[in-house]
Amino acid sequence: METDVRLSAPEPQEVDRGLDVALRPKTLGDFIGQSKIKENLRIFLEAAKGREEACEHVLLYGPPGLGKTSLAHVIANEMGAQIKVTSGPALERVGDLAAILTNLEEGDILFVDEIHRMNRSIEEVLYPAMEDFALDIVIGKGPMARTLRLDLKRFTLIGATTRLSLLSAPLRDRFGVTYHLDFYGVDDMRDILKRSSQLLQIDMSTEALEVIAHRARRTPRIGNRLLKRVRDYAQVIANGNLHADTVHQALSSLEIDTRGLDEADRRTLKSLIEKFEGGPVGLNTLAAATAEEMETLEEVIEPFLLQEGLLLRTPRGRVATDAAYLHLGLKPPERQATIL
Ligand SMILES: Nc1ncnc2c1ncn2[C@@H]1O[C@H](COP(=O)(O)OP(=O)(O)OP(=O)(O)O)[C@@H](O)[C@H]1O
Ligand SMILES: [Mg+2]
Repeated sequence: METDVRLSAPEPQEVDRGLDVALRPKTLGDFIGQSKIKENLRIFLEAAKGREEACEHVLLYGPPGLGKTSLAHVIANEMGAQIKVTSGPALERVGDLAAILTNLEEGDILFVDEIHRMNRSIEEVLYPAMEDFALDIVIGKGPMARTLRLDLKRFTLIGATTRLSLLSAPLRDRFGVTYHLDFYGVDDMRDILKRSSQLLQIDMSTEALEVIAHRARRTPRIGNRLLKRVRDYAQVIANGNLHADTVHQALSSLEIDTRGLDEADRRTLKSLIEKFEGGPVGLNTLAAATAEEMETLEEVIEPFLLQEGLLLRTPRGRVATDAAYLHLGLKPPERQATIL
């Protein structure tokens, strides 16, 4: 038996990663929601299989926790292919990438997470690899240097990013298909939570799951995490009772409001309204005022607020909508008929 020699409690992020792996869907059938992407993928994968070829390179983008990594594994499973996993920041030297590429077998999938964080010199090695399945290596230095072209096996690159705009155009162009993962509807969230509760053996009514589905930022990873937190709460505070009202209490004690906004979401809207009269204000200024990292604001907080219609992006900056005022229990300002 394996013994756990960990001396301190695992970091929350580590716990989440373990949860992610345990609950990761394996097949297209397990992957809930995103029906357009699935339909399209089914045809795309069938066609590649029919031709007995590796499929074209795939780019997945969208906010964190919506299923990019999961989908990459699903594609590998459906193709019956091996998947090798790396990430943009992990590839420090050209040699790192060259070693990975030359070890790929025919039909293998190379998953590069956070591909927008790959260094430019490494990106350039990737171009011929993706396009011609070749690797150009420079041997020697100065006037004696020469380039050697190595053939690679036909592989499929799957790139994932939360920031499509940070990808260079030449890299983006080398992907055969690009899929944008969007926030999930409440029904899909409920189905995802149902599946997770079964896998985690948490006996919760559909009504109680529905409460979490409404309050999980329409994000599967957040829903799964809340499911576990709610179970802990029920066990300690409510004698294991997992009814809808306990779930409501548990979520409120986690500072998640009825619309699924967490403390950081509310702080952002509050700042925008109280410090900048509802905007417009630039993202930099808003980040400074909320003591939030620019990246977090742009990649995590803003997409959800935009999607919920609580925030608007205008050419002059971010603006809080009337719905944001009302949600925070504030009176929307009288406006002239302008941008809103
Ligand atoms: N469509 C789905 N059906 C079922 N479960 C899902 C789905 N999408 C995501 N999940 C669940 O959410 C977890 C997080 O998803 P995943 O790790 O794939 O997100 P991600 O988009 O790669 O996030 P990040 O940008 O942070 O890497 C998965 O482990 C899985 O349990
Ligand atoms: Mg991921």
